[in-house]
Formats: sequence, C-alpha cells, structure tokens
Amino acid sequence: MQILTNRDGPVLRLQINRPEKRNALTNGMYEQMTSALQEADRDPAVRVVLIHGQPDGFTSGNDLQDFVHSPPVGDDSPVGRFITAISGARKPLVAAVAGPAVGIGTTMLLHCDLVYAAETTRFQLPFVNLALLPEAGSSLLLPMQIGHLRAAELLMLGEPFSAAKALQYGLVTEVFADGPAALQAAQAAAVKLAAKPPAALHLTKKLLKAPYAAQLAAQVGDETRHFVEQLRSPEAAEAFKAFFEKRAPDFTQFA
Ligand code: COA
Repeated sequence: MQILTNRDGPVLRLQINRPEKRNALTNGMYEQMTSALQEADRDPAVRVVLIHGQPDGFTSGNDLQDFVHSPPVGDDSPVGRFITAISGARKPLVAAVAGPAVGIGTTMLLHCDLVYAAETTRFQLPFVNLALLPEAGSSLLLPMQIGHLRAAELLMLGEPFSAAKALQYGLVTEVFADGPAALQAAQAAAVKLAAKPPAALHLTKKLLKAPYAAQLAAQVGDETRHFVEQLRSPEAAEAFKAFFEKRAPDFTQFA
C-alpha cells in the first residue's frame, strides 16, 4: 500500500509510503488520499486528519512518469479530485513534513491548518523549471499568505528552500530537530484538536477560509486549464526528458 491509513482514536493518519520513489504521488495514490479525506469528513468519529510521510521524506510531488504517460486532463482527474477534497476538507488537517516536500508536497500544505516541519525539510515549488504552472490554488494562496515578492521568488526561481525560511515566510507552524519530533508534535496537536467541540472547530475553519473560498475555486479552475495545456507543450516534454535522463534541461530553442 502506497497510502497507509490508520485510525488512532479520533485521529485519522494518512501516511504517504513510496520511499523508493521519494514518495512521488501517482494517480492511484491521489485516489486513495481523496477517498480517505472524503470518508474522514463523513465519519463523525474522525475529528482530525494527520498527513505525513517518512522521517526522511514527505513527498517529491507528482509522479513525473504519470505526468508523461497519464497526465491530468481537467478538474475531474485524480489530482484534481484530491485538490478539491483537501481544499474543501471540513475537518482540521495537520501535517508533519521532513526531507523533500516538492511541488504538491508544498502546495498541499497551504490547505492544512497546522504544519510541523523537521529542520532539514527541503521545500520546493519547481513548476516553472518543469515548464509547468502553480497548482492547488497556490497562485492565489501563496501571494495572499506571504506577499507577491516572496511568492514570485518561490514560484519563479523555483529553488529549494529550508524549513527556517518556510517558518520565516509563515508557511509552517513550527520547526523541530530532525527525527521523530515533528511527527510527535503533529500527533500531540491532533489529539488536542480532537478534544475540542467539533461544531465550533468546523465553523472556525470555515470562517477562516470563507473570505476567499469562491475565489480559490475559480483560481484552481484557471490553474488546471493552463496546467493541462502547458503539460502538452514541447517545453514540458524537454523538461521531463531531461529529468529522466538525469541532465539539465535546455530551453534555448523555445521562443
Ligand atoms: N516522479 C517520479 N519519480 C521520482 C520523482 C517524481 N516526482 N522524484 C523522485 N523520483 C524517483 C527518481 O527517478 C529515482 O528513481 P530511480 O531510483 O528509479 O532512478 C528515485 O525516485 C529516487 O530519486 P532521486 O532523485 O535519486 O532521490 P534524491 O534523494 O537524490 O532526490 C528529489 C530527491 C526529490 C530532490 C529528487 O528526486 C527530485 O527532484 N525529484 C523530482 C521532484 C519534482 O520535480 N517533482 C514534481 C513537482 S511538480
């Protein structure tokens, strides 16, 4: 199983578990995470969802083989349904991250309520480097959360950034030494949330997100439309070929 689900009392744990590919997310894995999030929202016994990977890796983002061989074609694709599920989750989402947190491994955190990071977590939004575009509403949420200049830095330069920088920018709640501490903090926070009055908690989350909920849905739609087109571009073909050939891409031929 590449997504492990485990009920720990009122906390549903979702563990990404494909370490041999640095937890790259396939269509099948998105489907499993979507089902788990939907089930968590339906099941009154689940109070909180905790998302994590391994102590040395959260996720290297979308599986690049899937992008080449079974790319998303619109909102109703596995990744599109996952984005809808995580952005619309009614219950609190807590994440513990470590190691690579690339692409959607960073953007999914914008939909979480508490994020605990190990100090060597390596965040990256490499979309432009792959001739792709921001997704999961990140083109709206990032500038809203951290300002245009910082969002442009992360999305246009696309370079890896540290947990310290993520904390400084307000993208994570707290940073811990490497090892089990970030996951332990996430578990402790999840247990605290699970003991809160659920209706008050759900309404608090809803109210926090209400001012931009409609805009977010529209932006995700725009992102998806452009992303699907860009995925079919010769630029993207060169970027993916270069990744699998383990070489730097060459974009000089493109206008
Ligand atoms: N999709 C598919 N396969 C991936 C992958 C991804 N996103 N990320 C890593 N892998 C695979 C590698 O191809 C490699 O496979 P192999 O052993 O069959 O050659 C294996 O996972 C290990 O990856 P490797 O690059 O050797 O690990 P690393 O620890 O040196 O580097 C990363 C880790 C995350 C920095 C690096 O793998 C990476 O940059 N991955 C791509 C990230 C990315 O661009 N994601 C898409 C965002 S939209």
